[in-house]
Amino acid sequence: MKKKSASLKKNSAKEVAKTERSPKDRRKASLLTPTDLKAAATKDISAALNGILADAFALYLKTKNFHWHMSGPHFRDYHLMLDDQAGEIYAMTDPVAERIRKLGGTTLRSIGHIARAQRILDNDADYVEPSDMLAELCEDNKTIAASLREAHNVCDEHRDIASASLIEVWIDETERRTWFLFEAGRPVDATGR
Ligand SMILES: [Fe+2]
Repeated sequence: MKKKSASLKKNSAKEVAKTERSPKDRRKASLLTPTDLKAAATKDISAALNGILADAFALYLKTKNFHWHMSGPHFRDYHLMLDDQAGEIYAMTDPVAERIRKLGGTTLRSIGHIARAQRILDNDADYVEPSDMLAELCEDNKTIAASLREAHNVCDEHRDIASASLIEVWIDETERRTWFLFEAGRPVDATGR
């Protein structure tokens, strides 16, 4: 009889251990910000926004890189334009990351994390022609606009109106940057204009 109750005790202790979360899991669970959105929404929207966040950091640094290494007769105009654009891209990053946390997701933690998640490619070339800088940034901004549109669809599916409305503003800003880069990078025609 004694033996039986000892084994019952042992089994129930095992059951408790199985259902109880480890201290690490409990700490991780404390990052689950309360939300009425479903777990799938947190997962899908966080994944979409984390990709955009990594791309925004990559594009921010590339824009600064080109701002710092600009050269040629249009130096002042291009240098200043790229500084404005870098500031706008950087301003996106905190609201993107905080949307993820508001949904209970977790976001990027390091430069290494950005490097693993970014889709925008770095440009570490020693010298880049000014017109190539503008063309490359123009393409990168178009890529980010497309990712933002995809993320908007994900938000719509899960009825995350707040993220969607921020994304709409970021799409507009991205299209403005693309427009400026396109116009500034137009080759001069035969009339010299
Ligand atoms: Fe600067």
